[in-house]
Amino acid sequence: MPRIAARGDSESLPADRGIRSHDYLPVSRETKVGVVLTTEAILRELEPTAEALLERHLASSKEWFPHEFVPYSRGRDHVPGETWSADDADLDGHQIDDAVRSALLVNLLTEDNLPYYFRSVERMFGRDGAWGTWVRRWTAEEGRHAMAIYGYLMTTRAIDPIELERGRMAQVSGGITPDPDNTHEGFAYLALQELATRISHRSTGKHLDPVGFELMKRVAADENLHQLFYRDLAEAAIQADPSGMMIAIEKQVANFSMPGVGIPNFAEHAGRIARAGIYDLAVHHDQILVPVVIRQWDVEHLEGLDAEAEQARERLMKRLAKSERVAKRMTDRRQTADATLVDA
Ligand SMILES: [Fe+2]
Ligand SMILES: [Fe+2]
Repeated sequence: MPRIAARGDSESLPADRGIRSHDYLPVSRETKVGVVLTTEAILRELEPTAEALLERHLASSKEWFPHEFVPYSRGRDHVPGETWSADDADLDGHQIDDAVRSALLVNLLTEDNLPYYFRSVERMFGRDGAWGTWVRRWTAEEGRHAMAIYGYLMTTRAIDPIELERGRMAQVSGGITPDPDNTHEGFAYLALQELATRISHRSTGKHLDPVGFELMKRVAADENLHQLFYRDLAEAAIQADPSGMMIAIEKQVANFSMPGVGIPNFAEHAGRIARAGIYDLAVHHDQILVPVVIRQWDVEHLEGLDAEAEQARERLMKRLAKSERVAKRMTDRRQTADATLVDA
């Protein structure tokens, strides 16, 4: 049975977890109405779930090796004084445009920022027990994504290596990641973010040569297992603390953006990626909000919410309806544009 913190019981709470005032509300395990678990309590309550999800993850994840996805025979030495040009790319006859190059750059730089994601997640979950084991395993898996994508980009010369390295230095020196305010928000954010990453890698891969396609598919398969872990963890958190999670989900859906803060010219890259349909608001709505927030977490029908959480649900449902309208408009516009191209 987790130790339950009562209102004002602040001394016993971890000081560095960004806990808000409503995290101190008393807990009623019987009714679940108005229940808001502290960070410490929800981590204890969900540890058996984390353990089960970790076991499921280990049973379903497959060992793979970054070097097997790098086309080394296409690589060549750097020539001093040589500057990169888009014509240098050797993508087995495939042509890629600026949008795909932006997607490759942003996807890799996001993976390169792993030290700070590790920091955030370890702070949230701690080092002990199943939580700590998960954080370390997840970190080890994430580490090979950057290795493999970097090898592919250097051998194929698909993007400018100088821009990439300067971007990496700027991004990692900045040390900025979206930092959820508390563990409840962390559960929601990580589920959405892992799925967004899976979609982004997979969609980018579709524009590449067969080697690039296989690489991005392989990376996306890891991201998929990560999102399943967090999605189901968040679902268990919803069962344990529906009000706290509703408030957290509403906030994370309202503030969600693709990771990339700190990447030089991020807005420009994100604009290109969206215009190419690799990741835009329609993709975000149809492939993230609908399957996870609306179907899996079923936010519309959650029961046992307190007044604050009911208000959060009202805002969330309005936001989801608006996002559906925007997504539909974008999809219609794209279909019209595609039809015009076919007719022309
Ligand atoms: Fe990754
Ligand atoms: Fe991941």
